[in-house]
Amino acid sequence: MPNNNTKARKSNIPKRDNGWQEGGQNPVSDEKSLDSALRPSHWAEYIGQEGIKENLRILLHAAKGRNQPPEHILFYGPPGLGKTTLAHLVARENSSQLKVTSGPAIEKVGDLASLLTNLSPGDILFIDEIHRLNKMIEEVLYPAMEAGSLNIIIGKGPSARTIQLELPPFTLIAATTRIALLSSPLRSRFGGGTYRLEFYTLDEIKKIIERSAKILGVKLDDRATEEIAKRSRFTPRIANHLLKRCRDFSDVHKLNLNKDTVCKALKLLEIDEAGLSYSDRKILETLINKFNGGPIGLTTIAAATSEETDTIEEVNEPYLIQLGFLERTPRGRIATKKAHEHLGLKYVSH
Ligand code: ADE
Repeated sequence: MPNNNTKARKSNIPKRDNGWQEGGQNPVSDEKSLDSALRPSHWAEYIGQEGIKENLRILLHAAKGRNQPPEHILFYGPPGLGKTTLAHLVARENSSQLKVTSGPAIEKVGDLASLLTNLSPGDILFIDEIHRLNKMIEEVLYPAMEAGSLNIIIGKGPSARTIQLELPPFTLIAATTRIALLSSPLRSRFGGGTYRLEFYTLDEIKKIIERSAKILGVKLDDRATEEIAKRSRFTPRIANHLLKRCRDFSDVHKLNLNKDTVCKALKLLEIDEAGLSYSDRKILETLINKFNGGPIGLTTIAAATSEETDTIEEVNEPYLIQLGFLERTPRGRIATKKAHEHLGLKYVSH
């Protein structure tokens, strides 16, 4: 077999772990800085979600024209589709400083008060996993979002007093994988819009993989790119993760990164041709083999598979539903005919 890839790699990218790579990229060693190196830092580099990008550009442009901070923005959708990346891009486009936190990190009213009072005018506060903010803190957030003021109650009982602090003008960008868990008063305060991030198309994912491969200095051919894309759950974070694991596999086994190597690497990771993971298959197989294909409740599936209900709802189900393998009905979850066919199991219609 011709060994063009290895040759190219040897001559062009000799110092993957300790030097400069092709294209002038400085290779980053640990996984975290790798991930941030792969994150687009300009609109032009961000592939997909075209409708959302256009709406955001208009929102930012109009706000700038009025010399005001953009109104608060909410992003929702399955993990890994680029909500955090969009928040960074909005901040950059708006020349704003981005302060990043998350729902679970804000434990007390005082934590939120401290975050808000430390903002400078025009800053953007990004709260990831906003559905995990507790109700008391949510109530402090309402007037901060609406009127730019912070109402803090000091003391208890009859001697309790409220003090009101004026906040600098700011924009809140929030992200959630579970929009249904947000209260309607909170949802209604995102005047800049609520945007649902969609799964990417195969072409978009291929472009993302090509871009990432270039940054990482990885040579892979079209068929290898296509294979990773097909198994990436149409999700950039997963596509990048699989690319890195395939790169590891090809390095360790000294193989060209072609379709065959990708298939071997992903087989070892138990990612099948449709991008299903071990836990996706376990959920479907349990539904089919133990519960006759459903309908069956989420908590029963969770107990039978030893998976968390939250993980099933946030991670597994959106993709299984997207593929048409699972349906959510008022009576419970159902494994479709397509799911049976994919797993090679006999389908009996009810
Ligand atoms: N990396 C992660 N998400 C991306 C996107 N939407 N476009 C380009 N690169 C990405």
